[in-house]
Amino acid sequence: MAKNKAHEHIDLIEAAKHKAQLMSHMSETTHKVGDVRHDLLLSIRDLKLHFETIRGPVQAVDGVNFDLVTNKAVVVVGESGCGKSSLAKAVLRLLPRNVAHYSGEVILHNIDTMKLSDEEFRAQIRWIKMSMVPQAAMNSLNPVLRVGDQVAEPMVVHCGMKKNDAMELAALMFNNVGVPVDFLVRYPFELSGGMRQRVAIAMSLITGPDLVILDEPTSALDVLTQANIFNLLKRIKANLDTSFILITHDISTSSELADIVAVMYAGQIVEVCESHRFFSKPRHPYSAKLMASVPRLREREEPEFIEGTPPSLINPPTGCRFKERCDRRFKKCEVEPPVYCFGEDRVKCWLFEGEGGVEGS
Ligand SMILES: Nc1ncnc2c1ncn2[C@@H]1O[C@H](COP(=O)(O)OP(=O)(O)O)[C@@H](O)[C@H]1O
Ligand code: SF4
Ligand SMILES: [Mg+2]
Repeated sequence: MAKNKAHEHIDLIEAAKHKAQLMSHMSETTHKVGDVRHDLLLSIRDLKLHFETIRGPVQAVDGVNFDLVTNKAVVVVGESGCGKSSLAKAVLRLLPRNVAHYSGEVILHNIDTMKLSDEEFRAQIRWIKMSMVPQAAMNSLNPVLRVGDQVAEPMVVHCGMKKNDAMELAALMFNNVGVPVDFLVRYPFELSGGMRQRVAIAMSLITGPDLVILDEPTSALDVLTQANIFNLLKRIKANLDTSFILITHDISTSSELADIVAVMYAGQIVEVCESHRFFSKPRHPYSAKLMASVPRLREREEPEFIEGTPPSLINPPTGCRFKERCDRRFKKCEVEPPVYCFGEDRVKCWLFEGEGGVEGS
């Protein structure tokens, strides 16, 4: 039976993915680690990224531990300034000049990426195994380059593909993300915000990475375009063998895409939860407040505001970092809580002492 067009697209992308992986395997100088769960894609341990400022170091990412298995979408939520974008940058080693401290483990498959040199990281990991749609990506396209060339570029630069082949693949990617193929020759200013965002998504997917990190992919778009982009992401997730870390403050819309929800507060992950459970009964008091702040269409109850603001990350409070805003705090909260485990779920809060096992013990 003849294959339909959609199948041909997926086949080509799979072929590109295979090629990209093959090429990276060929050049790997290996910094491999021992026993790992076979479906474990990403394992982050004690990841820290602090920035130097005149007022002192900002502890934007401060001891993050996190595991992600293959073909899953994890949605990272939390208020502005909690360190979500910094976490994405730390994983992809997209560091600004004012880094004060950067340490921890980022193990992708069985490669300890933190042990790779910058050159090895560029050759083996960024774009090839992990890519990113940065915050405000639609405004970060090069204004003087045609969008087709920009989407094709990672295949040429990182996978050594010939320009013509890469343009063909870019055309297929455009088709997949819902951008008319004749837009290949257009410049960014000739496209709407939604179309530019789709172009940025196409660029992140063209090399067939195992993991794509999308930082607020729908912010600054109108509601209808936001819904279209989320639908596109759902379709990509269903069709491609790729995992996602989706950073968003749009908790309600992301619920359909999320397999897992990770909640970030003051530079730390305070809860990781399977999504069905999270949306019905989150464990951490901060998660509960985040959920209560989401407006609901068919309910009479008004969304609640979370009183106060996240603490400064220059001198974050000792003990539980959420304690100033938590209406369930008690004496013990003056000491930093450990992380309690419930199967794959995690929660960093003293309320669960004695209920779950303690992480790392
Ligand atoms: N390059 C930088 N230099 C100094 N501070 C930074 C830098 N980048 C981010 N920050 C600070 O780190 C904290 C976390 O920021 P960010 O990761 O952007 O949070 P989010 O994405 O959750 O809004 C904020 O206090 C922010 O001001
Ligand atoms: S550790 Fe204490 S202050 Fe922190 S979230 Fe739990 S109950 Fe609230
Ligand atoms: Mg951000």
